[in-house]
Formats: sequence, structure tokens, C-alpha cells
Amino acid sequence: MSDFNHLLSLQELSQAQILELLALAKKIKANPAEYGQALAGKSVVTLFEKPSLRTRVTFDIGINKLGGHAVYLDQQNGAMGERESVKDFASNITRWADAIVARVFSHKTLQTLKEHSSVPVVNSLCDLYHPCQGLADFLTISENYDDLSKVKLAYLGDGNNVTHSLLLGGAILGMEVAAICPLGSNPDAQIVDKARQLAAASGGKIVVSDNIDDIQGYDVVYGDTWVSMGDDTPLDAVKQRFLPYQINQTMMDRYGIKHVLHCQPAHRELEITSEVMDGPQSLIFDQAENRMHAQNAVLVSLLA
Ligand code: CP
Ligand code: NVA
Repeated sequence: MSDFNHLLSLQELSQAQILELLALAKKIKANPAEYGQALAGKSVVTLFEKPSLRTRVTFDIGINKLGGHAVYLDQQNGAMGERESVKDFASNITRWADAIVARVFSHKTLQTLKEHSSVPVVNSLCDLYHPCQGLADFLTISENYDDLSKVKLAYLGDGNNVTHSLLLGGAILGMEVAAICPLGSNPDAQIVDKARQLAAASGGKIVVSDNIDDIQGYDVVYGDTWVSMGDDTPLDAVKQRFLPYQINQTMMDRYGIKHVLHCQPAHRELEITSEVMDGPQSLIFDQAENRMHAQNAVLVSLLA
């Protein structure tokens, strides 16, 4: 299986490694009993500086289904580095646990954890990336399209951590990925440059635009909140700017979109309408289920 030691951004993975992870996720999903002891005797610390439903529950239940033990550390510990340094935190945890899964405010915290940890560190969302989400998203798309490299995926809304993981992962996989964002809410320019380099090598394509018409003929559209965790901008202050990028049925029909994804939590009637979210083109709850299968593939690859 793939030879990688940590999962911080998706950039550490080759196309073959991502495809292997997706194939393993499908095997675990189809034959869970075969993997019921894959993490026997292993303990995984799951640490959260920010709220979570899907990530917390899918790691906890997923690790349990693999025969392992998840230790949940919540926000009562406060921001990492306050009670003790991140270095000391990592140096302690690494003596007990077999892996650290961390949702943090700053990507730098993950880099420090990794630097001082002798066990794998998995990013379960930071300010820049959400690689576990991206893997579940590509898994979900691959369940509906035979060849990922032929899929055109358009992210609509605020250029954020999820956007970055879709751009990087999609570029590695040779997909065409568009980030359609209002002016001033573009994804990070350096990450877009990196994605363009990866796409040049894989035969993929990266589009960044504020023009919604650019999604004509795309297969899948993808939504996320307009205001991410850790950003205290009131939603009302950005709502008018983002409403033209709402995923609704009129837009799906006008541009010939086949499927819709959303990482959730969703703000119904803002970035996506209930009609679309609950409609026949929605893969959103498959996508939420797939968080567990994709993460289990990561943990099995890193630990088993
Ligand atoms: N998509 C996702 O990461 O959801 P949670 O914030 O609920 O974990
Ligand atoms: N971009 C969102 C994703 C939530 C899963 C956030 O960071 O809040």
C-alpha cells in the first residue's frame, strides 16, 4: 500500500497513491468485516480545536469499526499551545498513541505536531486544507463516474480550506477543477499556483474565475459555507455578494450540471437550496458517509 507517513494537505500523495486509497476505501466499504481487526491494539488521538459533527463521529466510529481505539480531546483544552507548547503536546502524545488526527486553527500547528511526533499526523481540517474531506469527495465522485480524470468539478463560493483540497487533489488526479468565487474571496494564490503545476503534470486543468457562466457543461458542482469556522465576519455582511453563487435548481438546469456535493454543515437557502440538497442530483449524504470509508483507508494505510 501507499508509502506515506502523514496526511497534511494531499500534496504529499501521488496520483497512484490517491487512487490506491480510493480503491482501498471501496474495499473497506464493501467488506467491513475483513477489516474489523485492521487497527487492533492501535490507539488514535483525535484532537479538535474547532467544532465538528462529521469528522468527529466518522473518525470515532470508523476507528471502532477497524478494531482500534479513538481518544477524543475536545475544545476544553483550548487552543493548542496555551496550556503547554505544541512541541511538548506532541512529544507526550507520541509516547502513547499510534496516530494523531487534529483539527486546528493554524496549519503551522500541524507542522509542529508532525515535527515532534514519531507517529503519523492526519489533518482533519485547518485554515488551509481539509484533505480527509477531499478524499471522501473524490471517492464519492468515483462511485458515479468511471474515470476521475474526465470529470469536471466546479466549487462555488468562498475560496477556503475545502477549495484548496479540491484544487490540489483534483489537479493530482488530472481533473478539471474550477473555483468560482466572488471577487475578493479567491482561493490562496500560492495554492492555486501549486495546483496549476500539478495539473500541468497530470493533464488536468485549474480554472479560477468570478464568472458563474464558466461552469457551463461541468459535471459536478460543490458548495460550502460562505463564512468558515474561525472567521468572525457576520454572514449578513457577505450574503449579497455570495447569493449569485448559490447552488439552486435553476442554476443546475441552466448549466447542465449532473451532480451536487457539499461538505456540510450546510446553510440551507444560502449557499444551497433544500430543493437541490434533498433532490435526486444530490450526492451529499453519500459524501458524508464516505468520510468514514476514506479516512479508514488512510488509517489502514498508515497503521496496519
Ligand atoms: N465536513 C466536515 O468536516 O464536517 P464537520 O465540521 O461537522 O466535521
Ligand atoms: N470551510 C468550512 C468547512 C467546514 C467543514 C470551515 O472551515 O468552516
